[in-house]
Amino acid sequence: MKSKNWILAILLTTSALCFAKATNQWLKKVPQADRNRVNPYAGKPEAVAAGAILFHNNCAQCHGNDAAGKFSRPSLRTEEVRNATDGELAWLLKSGDVYRGMPRWSGLPEQERWQIIAYMRTLGPSSFPEGQK
Ligand code: HEC
Repeated sequence: MKSKNWILAILLTTSALCFAKATNQWLKKVPQADRNRVNPYAGKPEAVAAGAILFHNNCAQCHGNDAAGKFSRPSLRTEEVRNATDGELAWLLKSGDVYRGMPRWSGLPEQERWQIIAYMRTLGPSSFPEGQK
């Protein structure tokens, strides 16, 4: 009985750890043609402003108001995310990573997804932890 509980505890801890960290596995799935896509709104101030609002309405609940991550949801200020191409991010937003808890955003107009990406590009590497600003 006791050893069974141990096995259960170990299984639960391992699965919790697996979910706790973004694996960036999705990056390997992006087709080459998608990687090279160009954001038509890149760097446009109106697009960044619109993207900020969209981010707060759709993404902040999981990734935090400052995009620095929340609970087990990853920060979007990491090197991996900042190094991802606009096209890679566009692919992730369209496709999601549903089994890992990242919804697909194909329901949003493509223009709005590009605006969110334009906003994400303005995020620096770090921010104060959630709630300490
Ligand atoms: C319901 C919660 C939830 C919402 C809402 C959500 N995400 Fe995510 N997101 C996740 C989770 C969980 C992951 C980690 C997936 C994984 O482990 O690969 C993730 C991963 C990501 C990643 C990849 C991070 C990395 O390090 O690989 C990006 C980029 C991202 N989300 C952007 C967004 C954007 C932009 C929005 C709003 C349009 C959004 N997310 C909304 C839960 C969410």
